[in-house]
Amino acid sequence: MLLSKERNEKIMIDESNIYQAEKTAGSEDPHKEDHPAGGSSKRVQKTFLQRNKYRIRQICGVAFLLIIITSLAVLITKHSGSEIKSGDSEAQAFAEKTESATQSTTALTTTTTTSQSTTTSATVTEDTTTTQQTTTTQSATNKPQTSTTTKAADNKDPEVIKPTVIKGILVVNKSYPLPADYDPGGLTAETAAAFNKMQKAAALDGIQLWICSGYRSYYTQQSLFTQYCWRDGVAKAETYSARPGHSEHQSGLAIDVNMASSYFDNTPEAKWLAEHCNDYGFIIRYKPGKEQYTGYVAESWHIRYLGDVELCKNIEASGLCLEEYLGISSKYSN
Ligand code: DAL
Ligand code: ZN
Repeated sequence: MLLSKERNEKIMIDESNIYQAEKTAGSEDPHKEDHPAGGSSKRVQKTFLQRNKYRIRQICGVAFLLIIITSLAVLITKHSGSEIKSGDSEAQAFAEKTESATQSTTALTTTTTTSQSTTTSATVTEDTTTTQQTTTTQSATNKPQTSTTTKAADNKDPEVIKPTVIKGILVVNKSYPLPADYDPGGLTAETAAAFNKMQKAAALDGIQLWICSGYRSYYTQQSLFTQYCWRDGVAKAETYSARPGHSEHQSGLAIDVNMASSYFDNTPEAKWLAEHCNDYGFIIRYKPGKEQYTGYVAESWHIRYLGDVELCKNIEASGLCLEEYLGISSKYSN
């Protein structure tokens, strides 16, 4: 109210100035009497401009701001576009490739029971990207979902992809994928129970452990991996993220604990996990110095459920990673 009152007063003052100015101008204009209509129109024009002075200023101000904002938006868009440029063509190629592979993958018969309960809401943060997901538990064992097979999958032909079991262990890595429809629907019941037990034991030692990322479907992995490819380029993404079908998370037997980030390294929680996870049937799957065998950079937070405590302890004592222990590779065939 106060503002508009002030403004009205200002306008009135301005109008009286116009009147004064017109009076003066009129007396100085030798043609004014000859062209009364023209003089009047000029006065109307001036009055209009003066009357709307503030509005015109406002409009100009808003227009100026809009121009600045638009220019900034154009600059930012151009800049971010150039940042993802290194990986975009590769990522595009990858997206097309996985889409066609998904369409031709054969359906396998599901023999396990259905999912039972929701346990936690988890955050996946491989480096900086964050994804919300719900983890569910399922009635299942460490055995694969389909009739057990020891036949290694032929990656070149998606028609024959089958889960691979070696020495009673379901193997999922760059050499041995799972079919797209391998879907335990959540962490296996044994994996979830073992984690809960470990979580309680850790809490007694003052260590808080939680599931950051548990089960991930083929399609969740596809989405994550594609995002990383866009961000970092395919070659780099493949050092820390699995192609869809190649992630242990799809098996329902792997868990990222607390945070999927190198910030987890050397924390009290990471140390506790490394020291005790074998006692609950887990191994730290990707250790430093084993990149050439596992195919991935170290992940102190990624644990794999094997179930057999003695086996876990033997693998740990051997100093070997799972690939070395089983004498297998982890390499994409294409
Ligand atoms: N980060 C592990 C390798 C995965 O994507 O399954
Ligand atoms: Zn993981």
